[in-house]
Amino acid sequence: MKKPAAYGLALALLGATAITGTVHAQDATGPAFDRQTMMKQVGGAVRILSGMARGEAEYDPEAAVLGFRTIQAVAAGLPYLFPEGSETGDETEAAPAIWSDWDGFVAAANELETDAAAAVETGGGGLEAFQAAFMEVAGNCRTCHETYRIKRE
Ligand code: HEC
Repeated sequence: MKKPAAYGLALALLGATAITGTVHAQDATGPAFDRQTMMKQVGGAVRILSGMARGEAEYDPEAAVLGFRTIQAVAAGLPYLFPEGSETGDETEAAPAIWSDWDGFVAAANELETDAAAAVETGGGGLEAFQAAFMEVAGNCRTCHETYRIKRE
């Protein structure tokens, strides 16, 4: 739980694929900035996936699997991006419930990882299988955000 060393490891694991470039922006290298960057990756993947799910973009099995892989990778590292001391700063939208209900938060991240991993397996198997997998994955976003994210603005 909440170990800075594990946080560094998660960054090392995820860095190559997800945060290249942006993490070195000046004055923005803390955990809150990193997890926001990760979440933006997830948001970008979901935008592409939802376009395909709704038929606004042509279904592309490879793009589908790639999108789910991105989400899976971020979900796997997510709990390590909330070390103690990162409750504030970088205009974080992380809710205090993350730290007061740590096990619940980790369970929510694990759920996303599990659903994304399943979607990696099935999401390339035709439009209907993809749509079903996408619904499962996308259901996690609101569930976690409702409890563990404070919406600013
Ligand atoms: C386990 C909890 C959890 C799950 C699941 C989750 N999120 Fe998030 N998300 C967060 C938290 C916490 C923040 C706020 C992070 C911060 O500001 O420090 C956030 C922030 C975001 C942001 C704003 C990033 C920024 O600062 O610009 C986007 C976009 C986002 N999430 C998209 C998604 C999408 C899409 C999904 C579903 C595929 C998802 N999230 C699933 C916890 C979660």
